[in-house]
Amino acid sequence: MLGVDKMESKLIEVSDLKVSFYYEKGSIQVVRGFDIELNKGEIVGILGESGSGKTVSSSSIIRLIDEVVGRIDSGEVIFEGKDLLKASEEELKKIRGNKISYIFQNSSAALNPYKTIGKQLGEVLKTHSLTNTKEYVLDKLGEVGIDEAERIYNSYPFQLSGGQNQRIMIAQCILCNPELLIADEPTSSIDASLQKTVLDLLRDISKKNDMSVIIITHDFGVAKYLCDRLMIMYGGLVVEEGTIEQIFNAPFHPYTKELIKCSNSLAQDEDIMYFIEGTPPTAHQFKDECPFYSRCKLREPACTSGIPEFRRINDRKVRCILFENEVSKA
Ligand SMILES: Nc1ncnc2c1ncn2[C@@H]1O[C@H](COP(=O)(O)OP(=O)(O)OP(=O)(O)O)[C@@H](O)[C@H]1O
Ligand SMILES: [Mg+2]
Repeated sequence: MLGVDKMESKLIEVSDLKVSFYYEKGSIQVVRGFDIELNKGEIVGILGESGSGKTVSSSSIIRLIDEVVGRIDSGEVIFEGKDLLKASEEELKKIRGNKISYIFQNSSAALNPYKTIGKQLGEVLKTHSLTNTKEYVLDKLGEVGIDEAERIYNSYPFQLSGGQNQRIMIAQCILCNPELLIADEPTSSIDASLQKTVLDLLRDISKKNDMSVIIITHDFGVAKYLCDRLMIMYGGLVVEEGTIEQIFNAPFHPYTKELIKCSNSLAQDEDIMYFIEGTPPTAHQFKDECPFYSRCKLREPACTSGIPEFRRINDRKVRCILFENEVSKA
């Protein structure tokens, strides 16, 4: 029964997305396998080291990859029964910022410094042919916890603090009541107390509007606090997916296990902090093998024969040959 309910409430299904960029010596695939599914109102986190492909994969969902520098090689992004990778630019324009909103990693830079907040937010509504009244915009500013909304409405971004701009970005993204909000590191440039406020804000808006959220973060604390489920990325691949409890209490992938050890060591303020030896491969170093091979304590010769499949094991997924013989229970 639960399975049927879940299927009915599925909002978006991304499978086997692959993305390349053009470099001097030719094109290189930087995202080699990105899969994500979201139910309505669900909050899913994407976690992984710098360069693992979090931004490129999530921005590819609404095809934000500049065609001059890169391309989406393959995959499927099914949203409301349509594959967004096959949609026309016209169709996409109606979806971006309207049904699916994106908060950029460096969001303060995404605001136009030459226009007042009121003007910028008004333009978003105009773009999507929605009624643009000052009252509506002030209301949305209130919704993201902006005091003195009237003054802020007439201010320029440079007259506001980083935290205020962050809220404005969120206000801009929820103006059209999107069904999916993709937030790329929305709290990385703000202090810890404000971080919690922004996370609470995202959760409240998600609950109130039944809005799904994909949040990208480096921070296990943020993921634990906010998310229902987590995807772990490494070397341009999703290597594990599970609920917060599954990932934290019983991680499958050796990389996830190591990440959690690091995070616990940091949280417990240990004298000698635990770290994963070595560095993640850059896209130029990718090989046709498990990307974690060189750093993995459980590696076997077979790990070098191809990229492991992303396997479903009951209600979670993992990309590691140690789980090759695990069978999903129906
Ligand atoms: N515009 C671009 N042109 C060429 N290569 C790019 C471009 N954008 C990203 N890349 C490459 O794609 C790979 C994935 O980058 P991405 O920005 O998705 O990483 P990330 O996981 O979001 O990292 P971070 O945590 O630092 O934000 C990296 O190897 C990066 O160098
Ligand atoms: Mg990024």
